[in-house]
Amino acid sequence: MTRLITRLAQVSALAAVALLPQAVNANTGVALQHFSANSGNLPSAQRGARNFMAYCSGCHSLKYLRYERMGADLKIPADVLKQNLMFTSDKLGDQIKIAMPAASGDWFGRVPPDLSLETRARGADWVYTYLLSFYLDDTRPTGVNNPVLPGASMPHVLWELQGWQKKAEHAAEGAKEGEHGGGHHEGSGFEQVTKGSLTPAEYQAFVGDLVNFLDYASEPGKQARISTGLKVMLYLFVLLGLTYLLKKEFWRDIH
Ligand code: HEC
Repeated sequence: MTRLITRLAQVSALAAVALLPQAVNANTGVALQHFSANSGNLPSAQRGARNFMAYCSGCHSLKYLRYERMGADLKIPADVLKQNLMFTSDKLGDQIKIAMPAASGDWFGRVPPDLSLETRARGADWVYTYLLSFYLDDTRPTGVNNPVLPGASMPHVLWELQGWQKKAEHAAEGAKEGEHGGGHHEGSGFEQVTKGSLTPAEYQAFVGDLVNFLDYASEPGKQARISTGLKVMLYLFVLLGLTYLLKKEFWRDIH
């Protein structure tokens, strides 16, 4: 009996760990940088959509999202959509597929995964930190590695924007500082080797836009859900007031 109880306690402790917020990457123990995704930030999600199409859709699909739906939700006019965002298809009703033919859609043995549900599967913090954390590593075929997904076979496709960074000499101390809220470049154990076309702050904003867009893609109906929810709450609130008045009216003569 005691053993059973101990076992149960262990299992529930494990379950609790699995349910912990995404502050720490469960696989690697790397501290993730916090990013609260907001797909309701329309300009940001629009920029994210543009950047996703330009930098990511060559390899990653968003197979649960259609161009038409994205255009409608993010308020992107059809002509802008067709001219600037649709590289993989010319039909508005099509899903967002990759630009590469399926046969060559294989990078160093791994097929780039579909990212429709990425922020829901991994969490916004994970995706945000992942895109900030590519660092130079000669031992990898891509020339880069990533502490968030060690041995990742994705090249650092945004290097022109971010520049190259390497692991800091005192990476361990750096990581500790990072936990106390230090900025990415000082705090998270990286040293800038070459500059990119964006400043670190601009690059973080760029990645933030991408994550906001991916957050939108993972639940295109989210904003509608939130606004319907608010309307329902408001309606119930008004109804509560009316019901209260009605109750007072009914009981007026009795008291
Ligand atoms: C050249 C092809 C290529 C491009 C372009 C590319 N990726 Fe990737 N990406 C990959 C591959 C391959 C993987 C799988 C890595 C692995 O599991 O080793 C991957 C993995 C990922 C993952 C992690 C998936 C997971 O949960 O394991 C994310 C997030 C991601 N990519 C985001 C992006 C974003 C955002 C862009 C655009 C800025 C982008 N990728 C551009 C090839 C690419």
